[in-house]
Amino acid sequence: MTELLEPRAIGTPTTRRDGPAKVTGTAPYAFEAPADRPLYVHPVQATIARGRCTRIATVAAESLGGVVRVITPFTAERLASTDDAELAVLQDPEVPFRGHVIALVVAETPETARHAAELVEAAYDVEPHDVELDVGRSDLYAPDSVNPDFPTDTAQGDADAGLERAEVTVGETYETAMQHNNPLEPHATTALWDNGMLTLWDSTQGVHPVRSAVAGVFGLPEEKVRVRCPYVGGGFGSKGRPHANVVLAALAARAVPGRPVKLALTRQQMFVLAGYRTPTIQRVRLGADRDGRLRALRVDVVEQTSRIKEFAEQTGVPARMMYAAPNRATSHRLAALDVPVPSWMRAPGECPGMFGPEVAMDELAVALGMDPIELRVRNEPGRDPENGRPFSSRNLVACLRTGAERFGWAERDPRPGVRREGRWLTGTGVAASVYPAKRSPGSTALIRFENGRYAVEIGAADLGTGAWTILPQIAADALGVPAPDVEVRIGDTGYPKATVAGGSSGTASWGAAIVAAAEAFRDKYGSDPAEGAEASADTPENPAEEEYSMYAFGAQFAEVRVDADTGEIRVPRLWGTFAAGRIVNPLTARSQLLGGMTMGLSMALFETSTMDPRTGHVVNHDLAGYHIATNADVGDLRADWLDEHDPHVNPMGTKGVGEIGIVGTAAAIANAVHHATGVRVRKLPITLDALL
Ligand code: MOS
Repeated sequence: MTELLEPRAIGTPTTRRDGPAKVTGTAPYAFEAPADRPLYVHPVQATIARGRCTRIATVAAESLGGVVRVITPFTAERLASTDDAELAVLQDPEVPFRGHVIALVVAETPETARHAAELVEAAYDVEPHDVELDVGRSDLYAPDSVNPDFPTDTAQGDADAGLERAEVTVGETYETAMQHNNPLEPHATTALWDNGMLTLWDSTQGVHPVRSAVAGVFGLPEEKVRVRCPYVGGGFGSKGRPHANVVLAALAARAVPGRPVKLALTRQQMFVLAGYRTPTIQRVRLGADRDGRLRALRVDVVEQTSRIKEFAEQTGVPARMMYAAPNRATSHRLAALDVPVPSWMRAPGECPGMFGPEVAMDELAVALGMDPIELRVRNEPGRDPENGRPFSSRNLVACLRTGAERFGWAERDPRPGVRREGRWLTGTGVAASVYPAKRSPGSTALIRFENGRYAVEIGAADLGTGAWTILPQIAADALGVPAPDVEVRIGDTGYPKATVAGGSSGTASWGAAIVAAAEAFRDKYGSDPAEGAEASADTPENPAEEEYSMYAFGAQFAEVRVDADTGEIRVPRLWGTFAAGRIVNPLTARSQLLGGMTMGLSMALFETSTMDPRTGHVVNHDLAGYHIATNADVGDLRADWLDEHDPHVNPMGTKGVGEIGIVGTAAAIANAVHHATGVRVRKLPITLDALL
């Protein structure tokens, strides 16, 4: 594999290049894209959860001064492709879930558009709807695969017989809540249809994936669509693939050629149209010898998808590789409901999928009278139990031991519910964390020497993660120049193609292309290039991916205090120790890890989308009702990492840090709550009533 020159910029704490523009308010976001005489778009949403619109009355809306167009399924342009039901907006009068978009208003001001949207009246044929997930449903089905393409079920040995023979078993049901991504910046698009060319300024985790999807929906050649997105105010997966709002904006723009239109989802609309994390119900069974060696494990997951489009969260997947056990089985079953389409939310699969098993491991440790760290160490596999491959590097045990040392785990009295400081019961808990080290093929980087500096062009996205800052660090080391000599240009389909900022794979995928392009550049021009010199390269294949299993690992430690009378839970300490390969930029990486851990704390104690089964409506659909951890909820939060060198993953040796921080956090907190109170809570979020 290509080697970097001696890394100098990589590993150096470097402040964000985009920081000053963002904090001074001069960084243009999608809704603020420069636009001459823009129009504003407001969607009209269905007020039933299933049925069809029989009539949509638009006269009142159209009569309002400043309204330019009202578009309904009866009047909208026919799209070239309706294969993706989520993107096939306004193509038929069917209502598959409450809040589905049934009309669009285009007006001179956002206020007018919103007012007019309220004047649109629909009549419906209402059908009974079905929005309740339950393990007892008779219509649960096995999808063909789970996100993105993992097998739905796996079995090795005989899990049931192994459980039967085991000396100690744990068998419980764990539940994680429906959750909604709430990036600060809503899903927003400025769209302009001009001279046969569609330009979208879209808040997205991938300009090229948006271009492909939109071009497909409208039947346009890709070169007729340009997508731009220099800055993103957060995404967490909800902007990883285009949702209905992008197509709605493009459709509105097509209706008013030559005039730009702007569409920003309201916070409440985001709870319907931007994807969400499916609720999961996980039946977890562990069987072990008295000495704590797992003989069998079984994880059976039930979750929901939408009736119009399948998304199968891969919740059972992490249990396949995490611990050694000769007999093992995992399965996924789905209920297709009259609900919006679920999608990616930070660490889909691993995040919910490490809750049940990591609490079950804690329960097994208690049943065995064994320290939960020791139990995990005893079940450390020599090779990936799923496929028999060696790990490219696996430092879970080192994370557990180093983290334990830093946290002061050795002094822990294992007895639950026996420590009290005034009104507070106190306890500590641990859980493991894991996330695959992925690299996507299909990015290209172009390096050009201009004005005496290097410019790197790649259509990558920075959704607040630090790509603006770390890609120049990678390029600098690959070119053998100081990072300030490198300018990076990202977030535009005018630059070479790049894969989505998702699956914690951005740095690995784009970085590998940049290193390859730098190598091509140096081969061609040496270190003294002439003005205008340029070279490009694609993300190279990595044959080591066939040979090794590649994962980052971590250990999450939580200290909690629980009010003995009210059940109020506080988390005075949350410390994570990770092994995620080489860390390109300690400042931005630490922010990713801390952000992930905070989101995990939020998952443990607060975040839940409450569906009213009578209406199919998420009733707490705003930031007043959907509580996200704030500063006041976070105590002493720390993330650190081991100095891990993995020569197999990619030329930089990076594993990705965007998602691993959230994985295992909720289990560590639930385990600490049990240690504090003696009450085992198996359902998230852990609310006060569960402890009283
Ligand atoms: Mo992440 S949920 O892959 O953006």
